[in-house]
Amino acid sequence: MDAIDYARAHRQRFVDELCEFLRIPSVSAQPEHREDMERAAHWLCGKLVSAGFPSARVMPTPGHPVVLAEWLAAGPAAPTVLVYGHYDVQPPEPLDEWRTGPFEPTVVGQDVFARGAADDKGQAYVYVKAIEALAATGGTLPVNVKCLFEGEEEIGSQHLEPFVREHAAELASDVAAVSDTHILGKDVPCIVYALRGIACVELEVTGPDHDLHSGIYGGAVNNPLNGLCRIVARLHDEQGRVAIPGFYDRVRPLEPEERADLGRVPFDRAAWLGEAGVSADWGEAGYSIVERTTARPTLDLNGIWGGYTGVGAKTVLPSKAFAKLSMRLVADQDPAQIVELLRSYLAQITPPELSLELRSLHLGEGAVVARDSAALRAADRAYARAFGKAPVLVREGGSIPVVALIKKVLGIDTVLMGFGLPDDRLHSPNEKFHLPNFSRGIETVIHFMNHLSAAHEPA
Ligand code: BES
Ligand code: ZN
Repeated sequence: MDAIDYARAHRQRFVDELCEFLRIPSVSAQPEHREDMERAAHWLCGKLVSAGFPSARVMPTPGHPVVLAEWLAAGPAAPTVLVYGHYDVQPPEPLDEWRTGPFEPTVVGQDVFARGAADDKGQAYVYVKAIEALAATGGTLPVNVKCLFEGEEEIGSQHLEPFVREHAAELASDVAAVSDTHILGKDVPCIVYALRGIACVELEVTGPDHDLHSGIYGGAVNNPLNGLCRIVARLHDEQGRVAIPGFYDRVRPLEPEERADLGRVPFDRAAWLGEAGVSADWGEAGYSIVERTTARPTLDLNGIWGGYTGVGAKTVLPSKAFAKLSMRLVADQDPAQIVELLRSYLAQITPPELSLELRSLHLGEGAVVARDSAALRAADRAYARAFGKAPVLVREGGSIPVVALIKKVLGIDTVLMGFGLPDDRLHSPNEKFHLPNFSRGIETVIHFMNHLSAAHEPA
């Protein structure tokens, strides 16, 4: 029996184990889930040990723990792959929009519904099972493998950089593999070669030092909620461009060849509108939807609040108003510099009777990886074998800041082999993972490791 047969024979058990993993509510953002985070880390560590890893440990950080494992089974002449994934998930709210409990994984047809199913527990678990299958059938692994599973990806990976720096020698590898993205369709695999960076900030606008009666003061005191809305309205121009002066200065223009490549990425506009649940698209003039969502920088409000939001009316001028916003950045924008540009623009457009405070929440760099490495070729052939179709190369609009961190600290590129689907509803109620992709993902990783090992052999 080879590893592929093994994975097929054990498919149901693999799915059952994934469901066990999904049952642990490892919500990194919510302090009440601290113990669940520990539980998820230990559960994952246990599965690495049962897959055969001689050393797998749960390592504390000042935040949530990191799971680190190493299996140098293939010897010093073979390449070493660093597998990264995250076991934390986004908060499940709003709960009443879930058809089944976010932490009661439910299989409907070929999909498993649960928070974290695709992002990223299901995809991270693909590696654990691929490695188990390889080891159980080959007695060893075709490549050396190191695993780094973190619990703070969804909250900005604050403690990961110091952790990676401190353990750089232990983590040294030839290439990294990350599965935390999606392919274009069930039978349309892709490999991501660029991710956007991110900068998240929070704004606090203060007007009067206490709430005021709107009949007594309204019209003569600038209401911070009105003011904040005017400020926010000035963050984009009429063409859908971000209006912060200097925002585009360092954006690397898209070369005509790359635009042509992106133009050939299979894209079904009607399906895209359907997935998003909108009747029309919107955005920066002069760019296609694919370009706007992957290769151009953006700014979005994620929340805005203040004043009275309870039942009925309350005639009040609130003392404060708040907003959270995120910017998606592309090469060569520097997230910290972009936050400073935003800060100066806000200072300019905030009227004198209001005061505005900007707090930076988290920053993450984007990444562009080589499109023609040996590892990418191994991934390409692996997808072709598992999915029966060669993958296309695409940019991804989401952010996985660890990719830039791995490049910066360990000096290696990452292969982004996603197994999710565009309609997985990441970060949203009714998140799901398509189980055939779980199985094909396991097969892809098995082939990837075999091809990588073969590519490394002296000619
Ligand atoms: N898995 C996502 C990244 C992603 C999103 C890939 C969409 C493909 C499509 C990842 O877990 C994530 O959500 N990252 C955050 C970044 C972070 C700094 C909070 C994101 O992109 O919002
Ligand atoms: Zn993720």
